[in-house]
Amino acid sequence: MTETLLFSPMTIRGVTLKNRIVVPPMHQYSAQKGFPTDWHLMNAGKFAAGGAGLVVVESTKVERRGCGTVGDLGIWDDGFVEPLGRLAKFIRQQNSVAGIQLGHSGRKARATRPWEGDRPLQRTPEIEDWDAWQPVAPSAIAHSEKWPVPKALARGEVKDLVQAWGSAAWRAHEAGFDVLELHGAHGYLVHQFLSERSNQRSDEYGGSEANRMRFITEITEAVRTHWPDHKPLFVRLSVEDNAGWGPEQSARLAKILKVKGVDVIDCSSGGITEMAPILGKEIKYSYQVPLSEYVKRHADIMTMAVGLIIHGDQAEQILRERQADLIAVGREILNNPNWPMDAALKLGVEGPFRNVPPQFGYWLGTRAKRGFGTRPSTLAKRAAGSRLGDRIRSPQGATGSRECAPDDERNCARAVMTGFAICGYWGK
Ligand SMILES: Cc1cc2nc3c(=O)[nH]c(=O)nc-3n(C[C@H](O)[C@H](O)[C@H](O)COP(=O)(O)O)c2cc1C
Repeated sequence: MTETLLFSPMTIRGVTLKNRIVVPPMHQYSAQKGFPTDWHLMNAGKFAAGGAGLVVVESTKVERRGCGTVGDLGIWDDGFVEPLGRLAKFIRQQNSVAGIQLGHSGRKARATRPWEGDRPLQRTPEIEDWDAWQPVAPSAIAHSEKWPVPKALARGEVKDLVQAWGSAAWRAHEAGFDVLELHGAHGYLVHQFLSERSNQRSDEYGGSEANRMRFITEITEAVRTHWPDHKPLFVRLSVEDNAGWGPEQSARLAKILKVKGVDVIDCSSGGITEMAPILGKEIKYSYQVPLSEYVKRHADIMTMAVGLIIHGDQAEQILRERQADLIAVGREILNNPNWPMDAALKLGVEGPFRNVPPQFGYWLGTRAKRGFGTRPSTLAKRAAGSRLGDRIRSPQGATGSRECAPDDERNCARAVMTGFAICGYWGK
């Protein structure tokens, strides 16, 4: 049996995660007037029951104007506490930790859902508060030509917004969440303040780097006065945005935020322009991990890595190489909500079914004792008849080849991860 970092518990302040696997915030575009629906319960519930140590509920908006789409979750009123509390309670009941991300879309507010075209929404009678849902930003600069020019926030409104984040943190605590993440990435409001491109204010919130960092710094202070000391606080940053903000700025900000009570920087990228993040030559497995490593080393703060982390041994390697402290698995956990169990099996962890509630774990454990189900069904399997020494080829054919071992399914899984995806036999 293997000892892994991925399945070792971790305590941050007063909260212990049973493993290092995190479900990152993922919008469901399914709220009604900001309130969670059964969909949210099902969604959070299945990830918690799948064995992740921490499940972070999607970007939940601190004010009405901050909603990205008609389906965004809200937390701008005390009326949200009880329905959000249902999600937190259910996650906790599955022996996972419940987290929530607080956000504000700023100039990217009032948009269609991504699968409806990802563009500004058209006015319809069903949206009763159209005018109150006005996109706002540090400066009256549109995200791109296809987006409306936002209203520049008055200085007093910025101060009010800082307090809105603080009140939202208090509500998140009241609802029973144990981890809070502030959304400072992806070109949304906080990122709009950080970026010179979107922030051309002449007051204390614009101009110098220190001034552009003031909004998130004050938000962190306000949040920490309402969010208990024993509960961890994360901030998600676009560590590189390819538009003037990069790892050096992010590390400087992380140092400031650490002093203000932030425990973990969740390292993402992009979003301030229409372009997908350019990190090296291509988007590839672990493409944002170097950003996490940079912030961790230069700001001496814990980090979470995210972005195309798909395989258990890939995640384990990131932790072993000290490139991150936590691993977020997003789209792959949409594909396989039982990813933690699956990864535990593949890594040879003792008691792979202990991460999930007994409603699942008991039955899978007893079946395993009889010798069944210990080979995950998701493993790439050698084709019947393939032999030791068969060449494994890259699907693109360009990156080389290496040998396949007999009955070594993990080897094939690794091959998939590293891009040597197709067994000689499969390639026929
Ligand atoms: C459906 C969907 C919704 C998302 N919603 C959010 C969100 O609410 N907040 C956020 O910071 N990132 C959001 N993201 C980004 C993810 O948290 C994650 O960073 C991204 O998917 C990359 O990780 P992956 O390659 O493991 O999926 C979303 C991603 C997806 C696929």
